[in-house]
Amino acid sequence: MNTNIEYLGLKLKSPILAGSCGLTANIENLCKLEEAGAGAVVLKSIFEEQIIYDIKRNTHMYAPVGNYGDSYEYIAQHVADDSVQKHFDLIREAKRRLTIPVIGSINCYSHETWLTYAKQFQDAGCDALELNMAIMPFETSLSTDDVERTFSNIVQSLKKSISIPISIKVGTYFTDLAKFMQQLSWMGIQGITMFNKSLQVDVDVDAERLCNADSLTYPGELYNTLRWTAILSRKLRCNLCATTGVSDGKDVVKLLLAGATAVQVASCLYRHGVEYMKTLNDDLRAWMEGKGYESLDQFRGRLAMSTSDKAGMLMRTQFMNYFADIK
Ligand SMILES: Cc1cc2nc3c(=O)[nH]c(=O)nc-3n(C[C@H](O)[C@H](O)[C@H](O)COP(=O)(O)O)c2cc1C
Repeated sequence: MNTNIEYLGLKLKSPILAGSCGLTANIENLCKLEEAGAGAVVLKSIFEEQIIYDIKRNTHMYAPVGNYGDSYEYIAQHVADDSVQKHFDLIREAKRRLTIPVIGSINCYSHETWLTYAKQFQDAGCDALELNMAIMPFETSLSTDDVERTFSNIVQSLKKSISIPISIKVGTYFTDLAKFMQQLSWMGIQGITMFNKSLQVDVDVDAERLCNADSLTYPGELYNTLRWTAILSRKLRCNLCATTGVSDGKDVVKLLLAGATAVQVASCLYRHGVEYMKTLNDDLRAWMEGKGYESLDQFRGRLAMSTSDKAGMLMRTQFMNYFADIK
């Protein structure tokens, strides 16, 4: 039996990837993840804010008196380079010690300075770059077109600056999710990762202030990912990597049946340890063996929208007796 896949043009031995998170920010975990059978690792993101903050903080220190023109630009660029040096060291070390693909990650929201850094991810050795486009459309002055234009501008600029495969990680905040995901897949990228999990906000009622909610996802969050994977998997012109809500090997199987090329996990690794990657792979293989499947292609996409006899269930937004088990 083999669980090989081609993802973003890269050869992977498993469709299960370690998603970008704190666990993928150190070399020990990355080595353990490879040993436990991860198909690839997506490194912890470098944030656009992190890059810009460092540029600003450090250029205050070196604030030019008068107009230093190009040299001011140089210092801004140089200092920010320093601040992400450790991250590039991690990429280089990961490439030295791992045989599985190492995917870099940048979390961005605008068509700005960070773009000049993308090439350095490639130069440090990343096999691909996942761009987490964390655009929360909270501005009432922003239209759907504005948000989608930002996506398209960033993708076009990124494609000009790097030649490694690009995957775009998206959230669910789109008016026309299906249509825009399809358009995005036509922009010459190699993959779409959906869905990013936004940081959730809670209220501390004693202190009467905002606080962070639990950052880990819970099993019920799989259903939204599953629905959209099934709806979109046959409609995209690039790979689809499903993430959010995977808690066990059966969830991986569900997403593959829905048509995902690959699956990323983070929360279950926090809950059970990075070694849990092995359990996920073992469960996938055990299920395939039980079903007599020799390869993923034999069942991937079997429940995608155009192929499932119950595809109508994917489009229901409310209960109807015909579809609901609860009457
Ligand atoms: C603690 C934590 C840190 C994360 N940091 C990042 C990050 O830096 N960049 C990113 O793209 N996603 C980040 N994520 C999101 C995960 O990569 C993943 O998309 C999300 O958690 C959904 O998958 P899950 O249900 O398996 O957790 C983080 C998730 C967690 C739980």
